[in-house]
Amino acid sequence: MPALSRVFNIPTSSNEEITLTLHEPSLTSDNLGLKTWVSSYLLSQRLHNILESVPELVPSGSTLQRENKTVRALELGAGTGLVGLSFAVLRGASATVHLTDLPSIVPNLAHNVSLNSELLSKANTTVTTGVLDWSITPDRLPTKDERYDIILAADPVYSPEHPRWLVQTIERWLSRGLGARVVMEMPLRDAYLPQVQEFRRRMEEIGLAIVDQGEEVGYDDWEDKSTLDRLILTGSSMASSENITPQKGWTTDPDELDFDFYWADDKGIGSQMARERGLESPKPIMCSAPETGEGLYMFQSGSNFYIWDQMGDDVEEITRSQDLNEILEIMHKKGFKEFGLREVSGWAK
Ligand SMILES: C[S@@+](CC[C@H](N)C(=O)[O-])C[C@H]1O[C@@H](n2cnc3c(N)ncnc32)[C@H](O)[C@@H]1O
Repeated sequence: MPALSRVFNIPTSSNEEITLTLHEPSLTSDNLGLKTWVSSYLLSQRLHNILESVPELVPSGSTLQRENKTVRALELGAGTGLVGLSFAVLRGASATVHLTDLPSIVPNLAHNVSLNSELLSKANTTVTTGVLDWSITPDRLPTKDERYDIILAADPVYSPEHPRWLVQTIERWLSRGLGARVVMEMPLRDAYLPQVQEFRRRMEEIGLAIVDQGEEVGYDDWEDKSTLDRLILTGSSMASSENITPQKGWTTDPDELDFDFYWADDKGIGSQMARERGLESPKPIMCSAPETGEGLYMFQSGSNFYIWDQMGDDVEEITRSQDLNEILEIMHKKGFKEFGLREVSGWAK
């Protein structure tokens, strides 16, 4: 396929159209991001509606709007950048957008940002580009301020590893709380339906809830008609240790939680401990402070919370409540004995 420049007209709520120009270098089979796919076209056509519809992309009650803060958006697997660039122009000064992809794709992505620089500066928006490979676990976890309020992705699921990599990446980079949103559009190609299902399941497992979804029909140039799956999710129930004030003798310090060693991937010993007990997607909440010498961890899996005693390799489920705030209150006021702990045995024991 030869190199070409394509012009995309993006609708806005004022009935005017935004015109974006995107360069597409000649496509080689393993550089899928050098082409603009129909998922990103359809999503960019709908963005103005999504931005304004209820539930809004940035809920009016969220701290972002209350504090008049700039929305931080991240596009994963941005390819030629159509979705992220459309989002940036539609949001203007109220958002910054970071477009990411694999190293071989980012130079053209950056070129496309500069091709539209006049439009972007007229809209008073900030767009940056960079490499973000979903398969790589970063050396350290993003801080609260480095996370994104909105994650956008179009057509990102088409290999057996993608659901796991993508969900891990979203979990790492999405900010916690009610204002967080993931906006996706994925073709329902027969060959990858199991991966799309796995992706949806994993998103739910990390505590994301669907706030809106729909199907529409589109055509990629070289494909037959395909049905596309549009999903908007919120991070409402994602476990987060950020807003927790731990009981004396406990800590939520990321260095002490040592996410990379214990939980970052399937090989982490926390992940292994949970897998041996059939507990999916464990998320650390807090651990006992080192000076106590106790080696205890509190973590969440699904809607339940657990205490893991590393020294005895024992895991107990907190049966008294599934509400983290309530659990913390019990802990502050009455201590562990009120947790109603029930042992969870594993196949290895
Ligand atoms: C089918 S293309 C879609 C591109 C663009 N979103 C669109 O719809 O036009 C999939 C994109 O995911 C990117 N991608 C695939 N695996 C990736 C990985 N491990 N990390 C980051 N990006 C990846 C590809 O480089 C490509 O840009």
